Amino acid sequence: MAPEKRPPQKVLFVCLGNICRSPTAEAVFKKKNQDLKMDILFDSAGTSANHVGETSDPRSIHHAQLRGYVMDHQARQLTFKDLIEFDLILTMDESNFQNTWNLAKGDSQLVSKIQKITDFCSPEVRLKTKNAVPDPYFGGAQGFEEVLDILENAAQGFFKKNSKVHS
Ligand code: 4NP
Repeated sequence: MAPEKRPPQKVLFVCLGNICRSPTAEAVFKKKNQDLKMDILFDSAGTSANHVGETSDPRSIHHAQLRGYVMDHQARQLTFKDLIEFDLILTMDESNFQNTWNLAKGDSQLVSKIQKITDFCSPEVRLKTKNAVPDPYFGGAQGFEEVLDILENAAQGFFKKNSKVHS
């Protein structure tokens, strides 16, 4: 029988601006981590530098707050060092995935850490979302709710895989 893989100790979420999707993922996973008394470290970053230093989008903060999540992240840009320091890097969509992959410059060990966050979603959600957390930035409230729905589903799958207390 193959040995059980150890849970990742440090997980980084990646989107484009690091003000909507990835800091929301950080908040959702941190809450579940706390609820399950786990000690995995979560952080987030963006592939672009456009919003570096900004707090998260007020719409993301608002919708997250409605579900009991606290968003207190300051946007930062993804670096090569992140690929070395984190055990698992979860991107929100195909574009983030490609950009993060390119940053790894073909290093197979680094590339192997990069996955899409929807890999942890249920088959129904993967099918419905076509394996992407849609960018809510230019849309309305429904988009921000959908982001939360997908991320909560991913968190369920992630902690089911990585915790002894199967949630
Ligand atoms: P995020 O959303 O990648 O989920 O943080 C976006 C934030 C800002 C922009 C695009 C997406 N923008 O074009 O400024």
